[in-house]
Amino acid sequence: MPNAARTFSHHRLLYGGDYNPEQWPEEVWAQDVELMRRAGVNAATVGVFSWARLEPEEGVYDFGWLDRVVSMLHDGGIGIVLATPTASPPPWFSRAHPDALPVGPDGTRLTHGSRDTYAVTAPAYREACRRIVQQLVDRYGSHPGLLAWHLHNEYGTYDWGEHTAAAFRRWLRDRYASLEELNRAWYTSFWSQHYRSWEDILPPRATQYLHNPTQVVDFRRFMSDEMLAAMCEQRDIIRAAGSAAPVTTNFMLPTWNHIEQWSWSDALDVLSVDHYLDSEGPDGETHAAYAGDLVRSWSHGEPWLLMEQSTINMTMPQRRPHKDINRVIRNSLSYIARGSQGALFFQWRAPAAGSEVWHGGMVPHAGEDSRTYRGFVELGRILRDIAEVAAPPDDGPVVAADVAVMWHAEGWWALETKHLPNDRMDYASLVRGTHRALWHARIPADFVAPDGALDTYKLVLVPSMFPMDDAAVATLERYVDAGGRVCVWPFTGVADENMHVVAGGYPGRIRSLLGVRSEEFHPLGPDETVPLSDGTTGELWSEYLSLDGAEVTSSYAGGPLRGSPATTRHRYGSGTAYYLSTVPDPASVRGVLERLCDDAGVQRPLGVRPPADVEVVVRRGANADYVFVLNHGDTPVEVTGPGEDLVTSTTTTGGLTVAPGGYAVVRTDDTTPEAGWRLD
Ligand code: GAL
Repeated sequence: MPNAARTFSHHRLLYGGDYNPEQWPEEVWAQDVELMRRAGVNAATVGVFSWARLEPEEGVYDFGWLDRVVSMLHDGGIGIVLATPTASPPPWFSRAHPDALPVGPDGTRLTHGSRDTYAVTAPAYREACRRIVQQLVDRYGSHPGLLAWHLHNEYGTYDWGEHTAAAFRRWLRDRYASLEELNRAWYTSFWSQHYRSWEDILPPRATQYLHNPTQVVDFRRFMSDEMLAAMCEQRDIIRAAGSAAPVTTNFMLPTWNHIEQWSWSDALDVLSVDHYLDSEGPDGETHAAYAGDLVRSWSHGEPWLLMEQSTINMTMPQRRPHKDINRVIRNSLSYIARGSQGALFFQWRAPAAGSEVWHGGMVPHAGEDSRTYRGFVELGRILRDIAEVAAPPDDGPVVAADVAVMWHAEGWWALETKHLPNDRMDYASLVRGTHRALWHARIPADFVAPDGALDTYKLVLVPSMFPMDDAAVATLERYVDAGGRVCVWPFTGVADENMHVVAGGYPGRIRSLLGVRSEEFHPLGPDETVPLSDGTTGELWSEYLSLDGAEVTSSYAGGPLRGSPATTRHRYGSGTAYYLSTVPDPASVRGVLERLCDDAGVQRPLGVRPPADVEVVVRRGANADYVFVLNHGDTPVEVTGPGEDLVTSTTTTGGLTVAPGGYAVVRTDDTTPEAGWRLD
């Protein structure tokens, strides 16, 4: 659990972004500070990729330029988020330690010339990291302008080389204690994989045909733990030096699944995330919400920080949303509504050249005489005016939710192994599809770990979590037994944590919870769907199900399973366990979830159902609550209720119009339905 005592400011929202002044002659720096001040920027992340400038030769340091940057920012009233530069070792390092360069699964050793060219397991790399971190903390650890430590950048670089093989073996010894136990867990009796010596064991490098799936998932568990250990080394050096600034590292969403976030969350003072929209269209809004809800949940309901988002344009394959500045503002408010302590961007000034030259900046290539920069001045004004939202409530989470979606990186890793019954079942899409449907239904959601605390939720949703360990099963059973409601997607709980199928009928781990038994999977093809008797449609999956205590809520209305149970409900203790034996298609999922939420007595915020394209999120604060109204649509919406919009300093009691593309942040003492809130 993040350490709430070491956190970002509660008196203001952080605003700014990555600042890489080493790209510019020093004359530009003074202008940068002036423009930052004009825009209300109060936080600059420096040093993220500065290793080559800070340590030009092994053991030779040059902090003069960073001293000047830090003083200039501090004198200008801009706080410093100081990064450790370890994501990009300099060329001299790779030449001195070629064994520390990363090796791909096919044995290709990469070279420097980009970034992230290191093997996290290489002793020389780890030692070099410790040295530079020590230097930084000795020099800047007690600087009054230091807001936070930003360790590394987006941990997630894998390696399959010899150092990693050795570290993987050490991790496996810890996990299994004996080779016999490892052989059992990995099921090496198949295909003559039996290991007689620890030295036989390799990372899952390129091989002839399918990898051993348990080995693959163990390798991902190991890589996450190894990167976490590397991060903790840095954190411990900083703490040992007595620096009081909170420590964070920037997670990367949405496409990366290289770390197991719940365990990382416990190691950090505050969580932060980099988030880049995955859609140019309106679905981008659901994506911002997805990120915000995930990170808040990994933070156990505590505030967190949006460390990076793109400005108005970005350059990444398949993802080049051009956002108008209004959308940038609405997205920023969406993250803040969900608990972010600010809005930071990548990056402050658009670069003149280099690999990311076409990635936008808060100061674009056009300079400050641009609508982009003027938009950022307006965002700075808004964040100043709504600063009081940063003070979190004394008790409970910063956003309240009745519904939780189960999330675990291992569920994703497992569904990425090959030759499953349906290789098109994609964990990230299933979880995101579930969250998206709740967003459209205007129902706030949290995410929970499989062994997380469920008791405050009225409904827990479990999208296709194929392996389940004892703790996950016990958590679900206890929750439902005590009166909770859970709804389980197909291909959940069919195997244990080593991905061994539980025999006797699917889904073996949770058969008694669900009161069903499935004998055969009938996965659906790419263009195949199946009608259900309740009018909904299933995709991806179907199965031959019989009842063992549950009752049928709908049956298959077509296809080879016509007439057999499709969805079920089971009383278990004082609660209810629902099972979906097929995946509701995008047109059906919202209706399915709304019915479940209604049955569970889930309330919408303020007791209102806003018009389509209007998002309402209630952020809980120390002295009041804040209703964020984000109008993503093209018609105005009228907000009426007891409060005051902090963006326009206007009361909402008699109604306030929020223009198309507009936003309001309403301070209120009463978010109950009885207060008579209306949005129309
Ligand atoms: C982030 C990364 C930044 C920059 C940005 C561009 O993931 O941390 O350094 O590369 O992407 O979109």
